[in-house]
Amino acid sequence: MKSDRKDTAGRAAAGFDATGLDRRDFLKVGALGVAAGAVTGCGDPGAGQDALAGAATVPGTLTAPPDHPLAAPAIDHVRIGYVGVGGMGTAHVRNLVRIDGCAITAVCDIREAHAERAADIVEEAGHPRPALYTGGETDFERLCAEADLDLVYNATPWRWHVPICVAAMENGKHAATEVPAAYTLEDCWKLVETAERTGRHCAMMENVNYGRAELLCLSLVRQGLLGEILHAECGYLHDLRGIKFADEGEGLWRRDHSWTRNGNLYPTHGLGPVANCMDINRGDRFATLVSMSSPSRGLQEWAAANYPEGHAKRAETFALGDVNGSLIQTALGKTIYVAHDTNLPRPYDRINKVQGTRGIFQGYPDRVYIEGRSPSHRWEEAETYYDEFEHPLWQALREASIGAGHGGMDFMEDYRLVKCLREGLPLDMNVYDAAALSAVCELSEISVANGSAPVEFPDFTRGKWREWAPWPVVGA
Ligand SMILES: NC(=O)c1ccc[n+]([C@@H]2O[C@H](COP(=O)([O-])OP(=O)(O)OC[C@H]3O[C@@H](n4cnc5c(N)ncnc54)[C@H](O)[C@@H]3O)[C@@H](O)[C@H]2O)c1
Repeated sequence: MKSDRKDTAGRAAAGFDATGLDRRDFLKVGALGVAAGAVTGCGDPGAGQDALAGAATVPGTLTAPPDHPLAAPAIDHVRIGYVGVGGMGTAHVRNLVRIDGCAITAVCDIREAHAERAADIVEEAGHPRPALYTGGETDFERLCAEADLDLVYNATPWRWHVPICVAAMENGKHAATEVPAAYTLEDCWKLVETAERTGRHCAMMENVNYGRAELLCLSLVRQGLLGEILHAECGYLHDLRGIKFADEGEGLWRRDHSWTRNGNLYPTHGLGPVANCMDINRGDRFATLVSMSSPSRGLQEWAAANYPEGHAKRAETFALGDVNGSLIQTALGKTIYVAHDTNLPRPYDRINKVQGTRGIFQGYPDRVYIEGRSPSHRWEEAETYYDEFEHPLWQALREASIGAGHGGMDFMEDYRLVKCLREGLPLDMNVYDAAALSAVCELSEISVANGSAPVEFPDFTRGKWREWAPWPVVGA
């Protein structure tokens, strides 16, 4: 696949529809049309909030939601098919071969060399060489249909996450996917509907939920040190210009989304940990969102500075505003700011601020203020809290995670996935979390396309958020 293509398939995958409407036009017409009961293409601009509430419609095909999030029968030895072994998939493979009670028995990638590399890692770790599926973009369907597997785990480009998860579940396998699980509301519902109908897990693997600082913050929250949590700020602030323009890896697909989509394209790293602190889907839920994007300059300027006159990449145009800010209000009235900022020169950041009635945690650098404990009006370094408040997962797995990706958090998430499947426990992040966090992608695009108007979140739990218990403080 060429990295600088603007062919029909590439544009369709990135959000252009067959009529030639660009995604912003589509979202505007589509959102307004929903309110009128049909997509007429001539929405009344005054339809305002009612129109945007249409995004929250529950599909009629769903049955009643379950009383408890799924806990599937325990699987003593988890057989895994891995789909997409590029940068992130290979990192997961390296983790999984070190975890007891699981084996990668099948690998699928459109690039044979990537699949062979993953198979070598599995074999070098002392496991039998996995079966390879390298027959093209839909060969994952064959893997899902014919391989004896318990779990299909994918780290493919975004457009494949939903087709792979659905194929896995339809064939009786549990599914796990890299982030975001989906980027349209329709696909979020498709994951929920398929998981409920098939009785299979569909986990979104949000590694930042397992970050050391994020879990320290969650410990403080669970022990009441920050009081009642009222507000959080988070995001994904990462200069990806070089990666988006590369002729390999994410450069082959990630930039495409910036051609046509304007909103928060990657919300889950920031939102995952603060959603846990705020008991989202387990006592509260995301209710409404407003979103605003800055102008788009960064990618155009980077191309102009790095490619010669006449190069195809210099001619590309981008819809994605360089900095997108969205505000979410929860059903209980709490507030969350979530940023997406990937096209400008800047150091890495996820903000990671959680604020309650008695104190505040803030990342970059990690610091804490707790009234009555911290010196008055002064930050304390979060480092000084680890002795007393380190999360049990980090107490148990810190050594084992050394050398694993993203400071060890990637190992912890893979470890927990396998453990929950082996013990028949509910997963740390279930399909409702996958849907609610991923929904921010299209909801932010709809809000931006409609002058930052408020958009309602679908309630993927259909009211069960009031009953489901908060994520407990889990151990290893
Ligand atoms: N959690 C994190 O910290 C983190 C970090 C990086 C990437 N990611 C996510 O991981 C996913 C992959 O990102 P990456 O950086 O590894 O990208 P990548 O381009 O390096 O890897 C993607 C792999 O998928 C393969 N592939 C593409 N289409 C396929 C198909 N239809 N069937 C099978 N294989 C296919 C490619 O050949 C490649 O090997 C994305 O969803 C991304 O958002 C998450």
